Amino acid sequence: MSRRARFAAALAVVTLGATIAATIPAQAAGSTLKDAAAQSGRYFGTAIAGFKLSDSTYSSIANREFNMITAENEMKMDATEPSQNNFNFSSGDQILNWAVQNGKRVRGHALAWHSQQPSWMQGMSGSALRSAMLNHVTKVAEHYKGKVYAWDVVNEAFDDSNGGRRDSNLQRTGNDWIEAAFKAARAADPNAKLCYNDYNTDNWTWAKTQGVYNMVKDFKARGVPIDCVGFQSHFNAQSAYNSNYRTTLSSFAALGVEVQITELDIEGSGSQQADTYRRVVEDCLAVKACTGITVWGVRDSDSWRSYGTPLLFDNNGGKKAAYTSVLNALNAADPTDPTTDPTQDPTDDPTQDPTDDPTDDPTDPETTNPPDPTGKCSAALTIVNSWPGGYQATVTVKAGSSSINGWRVTLPSSVNTNNLWNGVLSGGVVTNAPYNGSVGAGQSTTFGFVGNGSAPGAGNLTCA
Ligand code: XIL
Repeated sequence: MSRRARFAAALAVVTLGATIAATIPAQAAGSTLKDAAAQSGRYFGTAIAGFKLSDSTYSSIANREFNMITAENEMKMDATEPSQNNFNFSSGDQILNWAVQNGKRVRGHALAWHSQQPSWMQGMSGSALRSAMLNHVTKVAEHYKGKVYAWDVVNEAFDDSNGGRRDSNLQRTGNDWIEAAFKAARAADPNAKLCYNDYNTDNWTWAKTQGVYNMVKDFKARGVPIDCVGFQSHFNAQSAYNSNYRTTLSSFAALGVEVQITELDIEGSGSQQADTYRRVVEDCLAVKACTGITVWGVRDSDSWRSYGTPLLFDNNGGKKAAYTSVLNALNAADPTDPTTDPTQDPTDDPTQDPTDDPTDDPTDPETTNPPDPTGKCSAALTIVNSWPGGYQATVTVKAGSSSINGWRVTLPSSVNTNNLWNGVLSGGVVTNAPYNGSVGAGQSTTFGFVGNGSAPGAGNLTCA
């Protein structure tokens, strides 16, 4: 080798080394979206159209890059209940089976919605529609029981501008239709996370965002079973990404729900689009309870808004600048930072320090470590809803003056249930679920159940 060639070779090695050092963070980088997201315990998903699975470019990208799957249309009301009380799960099952066979989880979408209703439902109203809707929620959630990670129980129920509810045939059955749908979904599949999902709820200053926020706050206060809020996040010129998105995500998270980005697409191209994608990912990573991101399709040509080229892969399946920017942002998550790791406890309220009891004044001898009459913890049962032959109850478990690591609540002997969530039932005693045993001093957590027969009276239960 000539001197000059040796020099060039040495330079190439040095340059290559520098490039590797600059682009690979200390933690091994994920080379696919799903692997990169998994580094901080999150998922990365896409919407799948069943009829496209036979397109090998489509299915190989979907399989390689994503580990959470949403059926783009196949689990909606019109697809699953084409005539009243006759259910057809063939298209939905095709997607679910593909996902399961490839080791992926599924977000169910959507149980109750004003849009894509079967024609028989569109003209219905009043109590007949209410019953039909609840029957739909129950039967579909029962079919997929134990198979879906989460359900969009109610989709798009808020008005676009005034912060109130959207007018629809479902809304006209009574304002409580949303909570009725959530209760029916919980009863049908107690292990699925139950989400409210909507669009134009990304900008914290918008009335619609505040309307949904107030509903979720009210649901949490009254024990309506809601676990998560889905932000569709279809961004374009009319509904642009705003830097207060992170505030939106963290504010909802502070209500004690998981937040998920459920239908992300960002119209545009090049570095502008790539940059907005990066900011969305960084905002999710900054919020512990933001557990995953789903983009609404694979290639631009698969998008419901293909004219806006809003996705991560081009029409040929090539990776766009937006793809690289998302991958790098996911890989930049610091897995040692507890605020970015959703596995740390997504329902934990980041605004509260569980070790800090605001009622305790350490300088006041009378209130320092006061004897707690209820001991380790207390438990209070309330009846959320009841109907002939059954009822739904919530039990609030509150730690005493010290934080606790695990709790046991004895149910009234009259309780007969085979449907209990956020706890483990054995022999009339409920112990904490793996994720809600640690309760800070003076803080509380809840579990719930649907009981058979008549409801016990509300009141205190034994907690130990
Ligand atoms: C869209 C699908 O992508 C289209 O194929 C279909 O024609 C209409 O619905 N909000 C939602 C999604 O919750 O279900 C919608 O999906 C997009 C907007």
